[in-house]
Amino acid sequence: MRAGAHELRVQLAAHPLAYPVVRLLARCGPVVRVPGLGVVVNEAAVAREVLTDTGTFRSGGGTEADLWTPVFGPSMLVNMDGPDHRAMRRKLAEFFTPAYAGRLVESVCAEPLARVAETLGRGRPVDVVRTTKIVAGALTSALVGFTVTGPAAERDAAYLRMAGQATAIIGLVKLGRLRLTDRQIAQARAIVAEIGATTSLAWAEGDENTAVGRMRQFGLTEAEARGLASAFLIAGTETIAGLLPRLVAVLHDHGELTGVAAAHRAGDPGPVAAAISETARLITPAPIILRNAVRPGRIGGVAVRPGDRVVVSTLNCARAYGRFDLGRAHPPELRHLWFGAGPHFCLGYPLAMAEVHAVLGTLFEHAPLRITARRAESGVLFPAYRRLEVSRA
Ligand code: HEM
Repeated sequence: MRAGAHELRVQLAAHPLAYPVVRLLARCGPVVRVPGLGVVVNEAAVAREVLTDTGTFRSGGGTEADLWTPVFGPSMLVNMDGPDHRAMRRKLAEFFTPAYAGRLVESVCAEPLARVAETLGRGRPVDVVRTTKIVAGALTSALVGFTVTGPAAERDAAYLRMAGQATAIIGLVKLGRLRLTDRQIAQARAIVAEIGATTSLAWAEGDENTAVGRMRQFGLTEAEARGLASAFLIAGTETIAGLLPRLVAVLHDHGELTGVAAAHRAGDPGPVAAAISETARLITPAPIILRNAVRPGRIGGVAVRPGDRVVVSTLNCARAYGRFDLGRAHPPELRHLWFGAGPHFCLGYPLAMAEVHAVLGTLFEHAPLRITARRAESGVLFPAYRRLEVSRA
């Protein structure tokens, strides 16, 4: 099978109609107005202009991001703009330092990852999807203030349940319908009620060694902490669960996994960093970012009117740079575009990177690896594998 064929299957399983249409739109120019959809941006430099021009293009306050407001409240960053957003981001500027993200991942994920290493060491297969969901669920649990105890199997089940709650909430959103019905709002509220109560409890305790206590220490009110915890749940679980297994698969399918793993074991961080950015470019884990125009403006050569929806196709922007190539340098306009740009740039980026490094590091210790089973997930918002089993080659 061609190296890219598996990745194409993952995309098509998630979006059998939208994926081909979006890729076709890439051929229509850097900026295209599509009736019924909005103004689609296919070029990285233009995308960056849109995402940094917060006077013209808004993320919250009447946009699709507001679909979460009735469920989680108004303070979850993605549904905020202007001075309120700036003030909350300023409070959180030092929240996820790379050092804190590294410590958090180490404290929460070392034990589950040690079990993964042990399984691989015995020559047994490991499902990278399940592993990633356990790791992401464990981190989300820590971030929302949910303490998990008990034997390993019970802890894994609790972490998988947490990740499953994010899946259930994100699963309510379909590409063609960016609104929640009253019934869906009630469903989602039922899921988050328990999590919100946990966050409030942790906020009241205020222990600075916990993530929620740290939010309080950084000046967040209880409502803001609850909003942020919910943002972590929906922004930080499915994205990682989609990215990490695909990253392993792409490296494997292009014959690069063994070489990158060898560099990692030799203590050379360069090839791993290049592998993560180039693989993420190809995968584009967050394939679109939405904005609404609030005043007249221009995107590239296209005029926009207030009320126009802008669809930044990070996928098309990233793919414009060509085929997978680990030697490729990413120009400044492209850098991490799949994590956003400007004031809404992914707050969890350092944590996402620490997670990716921790899981890859564990797998790399047992390379060469071969993929023994895989299956793409169908009908999901974030393209993903349902199962990706690897074993020592
Ligand atoms: C592969 C992993 C991830 C990807 C691709 C990703 C992507 C993104 C993107 C594209 C945005 C900007 C959205 C916009 O401009 O409208 C964003 C924002 C955000 N992300 Fe991530 N993210 C990832 C992981 C995480 C993690 C692990 C967390 C935390 C646990 C997180 C928390 C957030 C938050 C709170 C925001 C909102 C920031 C704001 O609006 O100011 N993300 N992410």
